[in-house]
Amino acid sequence: MFDDAVTEASEKPEGRTKASQEKGWQKVRMKIEALVKKRPDDHLSSLMAELREIEIGRANPVDFYAKRHIIRPLAENLFKREERQFNEGFYHPDMRVGKYVVASISPIRYLMKCVRPDTQAIVELGSGWSANLFQLYIGLGYHRTRKIRFHGAEYTKEGQIAANLLAEHDGQIIYRSHNCDYRAPNVGYLRPYKKHILVYTRHSIEQVDYINPELYDMLRALDAQVTLVHIEPVGWQRRPDLMEKRLANDTAFFNAIGHSIATDPVAVDRPVENASWWSWRMNYNINLIGIADEYCNRKLARQIRREYEFAVPANVFNPSTLVHLELW
Ligand SMILES: C[S@@+](CC[C@H](N)C(=O)[O-])C[C@H]1O[C@@H](n2cnc3c(N)ncnc32)[C@H](O)[C@@H]1O
Repeated sequence: MFDDAVTEASEKPEGRTKASQEKGWQKVRMKIEALVKKRPDDHLSSLMAELREIEIGRANPVDFYAKRHIIRPLAENLFKREERQFNEGFYHPDMRVGKYVVASISPIRYLMKCVRPDTQAIVELGSGWSANLFQLYIGLGYHRTRKIRFHGAEYTKEGQIAANLLAEHDGQIIYRSHNCDYRAPNVGYLRPYKKHILVYTRHSIEQVDYINPELYDMLRALDAQVTLVHIEPVGWQRRPDLMEKRLANDTAFFNAIGHSIATDPVAVDRPVENASWWSWRMNYNINLIGIADEYCNRKLARQIRREYEFAVPANVFNPSTLVHLELW
C-alpha cells in the first residue's frame, strides 16, 4: 500500500486527450438527457442541484460583522491574522474544525458581481457543459439577464451538446455554444458587442500547457470593454524557482515532491510546491500568469484582483487562483 502510493506519486501520465474529455462529457450529456426526460417540469436550478451544485453562497457575508461593533473587532483581528483587509469583498469569517478561519466567497458570486448594467454578454471559455454559466444565470435571475447573451465556448462537442440540452430545457436563457481551443483561439462571435462583456475561465486553461497568448490580443481588439477573470490553478507560477524547474522539465525535482507527498507528513504544509507537482504531472498550464503579467506591465490591462490558492473545487493539489483584469 505504502509502496503503491510512492510509485503512483512518481508516475507522470500525459495530458488528457480530447477523446478522454469527450468521453467524460458524454457521460454528463447522457445524464442530462435522462434527467430532462424524467423531470420535464423541473426548473433548471433543480436540475443543476442534481447534476452538480448551486454554489452561489451568501451575497455579502462580511456585512453581519461590519454592522455590529461588538463582534467586529474579532472579525478584524481574524483578517489581520490572515493578512487580509476587513471588508475587501473576497473573504469572510468562517469556522473549520473548531477554529476561526477566513473563507472566500463563492466564485459564482464573485463572477455575478462582475456583471454591470451595460453587460451584453457573459462568456465562459473551456466551459464544459456550462455548469458555471447556468449558475450565473440562475443567480442573476431572468429579469437581469433577459438581454444578456450567454456564450459557452467549449473544446468538446459532447460538452456543447450537453449545455444545449439544458439551455433548451430552460427555454428562456439566450445561450449559444461555440468551439474553443486555447491553442487556436477564435472569439469572432463576440464582435457584434459594443458595450461590456464578461469573459471568464474556470479550470480549463489548466488543461493546456501553453495557451496561445493571442487570445488576449483578440479579446482586446473587440469593440466592447472586456472584463477577463481567470479562476485557474496557476498560483505556483508566481514562484520563479518552481517555474525554472518546470521549464527545465526537472523530473528528479518533481518526483521528489511526489515522493514527499507520499511519505512525509510535512507535505501538508507545502501547498504551492504540491500544486506545481500536480501541474507538472498532468502537463497542465505553464504560461497564464506570464501572459497576464506581461499584459499588465505593457499597460494593456489593469489588474483588479489576484488571490492565490483561495479555494479548491475538487482536488487540494489543484487549487484555484483568481486573476481579474480589465483589458484596455
Ligand atoms: C475540468 S473541465 C472544466 C469545465 C468548466 N470550466 C467547469 O468549471 O465546469 C476542463 C475543460 O477544459 C476543456 N479543454 C480541454 N482542452 C482544451 C483546449 N485545448 N481548449 C479549450 N478548452 C479545453 C475541456 O473540454 C473541459 O471542458
